[in-house]
Amino acid sequence: MWIKKPWRLGTRAKLLLRGLRYMPLLPFASIDGWLTVDEAIALFELSRALPNENPLAVEIGSWQGKSSVCLASGLSGKFRPRLCCIDPFDATGDDASAGTYDARAQNLDTGLRGTFEANLRDAGLRHVVDVRQGTSHQHASGWREPIDLLFLDGDHSYEAVKQDVLDWAPKVRQGGYLALHDVVHAKHDGPRRVVEELVRTDASWVDARYVDSMFVARKAMA
Ligand SMILES: C[S@@+](CC[C@H](N)C(=O)[O-])C[C@H]1O[C@@H](n2cnc3c(N)ncnc32)[C@H](O)[C@@H]1O
Repeated sequence: MWIKKPWRLGTRAKLLLRGLRYMPLLPFASIDGWLTVDEAIALFELSRALPNENPLAVEIGSWQGKSSVCLASGLSGKFRPRLCCIDPFDATGDDASAGTYDARAQNLDTGLRGTFEANLRDAGLRHVVDVRQGTSHQHASGWREPIDLLFLDGDHSYEAVKQDVLDWAPKVRQGGYLALHDVVHAKHDGPRRVVEELVRTDASWVDARYVDSMFVARKAMA
C-alpha cells in the first residue's frame, strides 16, 4: 500500500527561508553531522558577535566540520580570526556514539581529518581553522590564551563533559561565550547533567538559553 510521507523542507530550503544573511552557511547543509538549522544559525551569530580583531573560538569535537563551518563563517571577514578545532579524528568517543562514528567513518576515502579539511577548504574557510588533533584533555593543560567562544561537542559521557567544563570553561574570558551541544538528547544525558550541576548553579554564567539541543551562556563581567 502506498503511504503518503509528510512533506518536509530540506536543510538548504530552511536556511534560504531565513534570509540572505545565512547564505554563507549553505556548505553546512552538505556536511555529515548532527546540527539543526537553528543551532547552525546560533553558532554563526555567536561567532559573528565576537570582537572584530583577533577573535578566538575553540571547538571540542569537530567530526567532519559541520559546526566548524558555521563558527568559521561567523569569524570570516574579521581581522586575524581563529577557530581552533580539537578532535582525535579517529572516530572514538563515548559508548553511545563510538559505533555510529566508526560505521560512518568507514565510508570516507580520505579519513576523518582529510574529510574535515576538505570540507573547510571547499567552504573557503580553511584559513580560519587551526586543527589540533588529539583529545580535549590532552590539549587543555598547555592552553594559555583567553577564549572568546568555547563550543563543547566532543565525548558526551558525564565524566568527559564534566572534565571538559572543568578544564576549559575557566579559559573563557569575561564577556565570552560557552555553548554545549546535545544537552536535550535521549541518548546522552552527560551534557544536560553537567549544565545543570556545574553551569546553571554558577553565577558567573549569565544569559543562559537553549536553541534546540544546544545550551548557550555568557561569562559575566566581574
Ligand atoms: C558529535 S561529534 C561532533 C560533531 C560536530 N561538532 C558537528 O557538528 O558535526 C563528536 C566528535 O568528538 C570527537 N571526540 C570524542 N572524544 C573527544 C575528546 N575527548 N576530545 C575531542 N574530541 C572528541 C569524536 O571523535 C567526534 O569526532
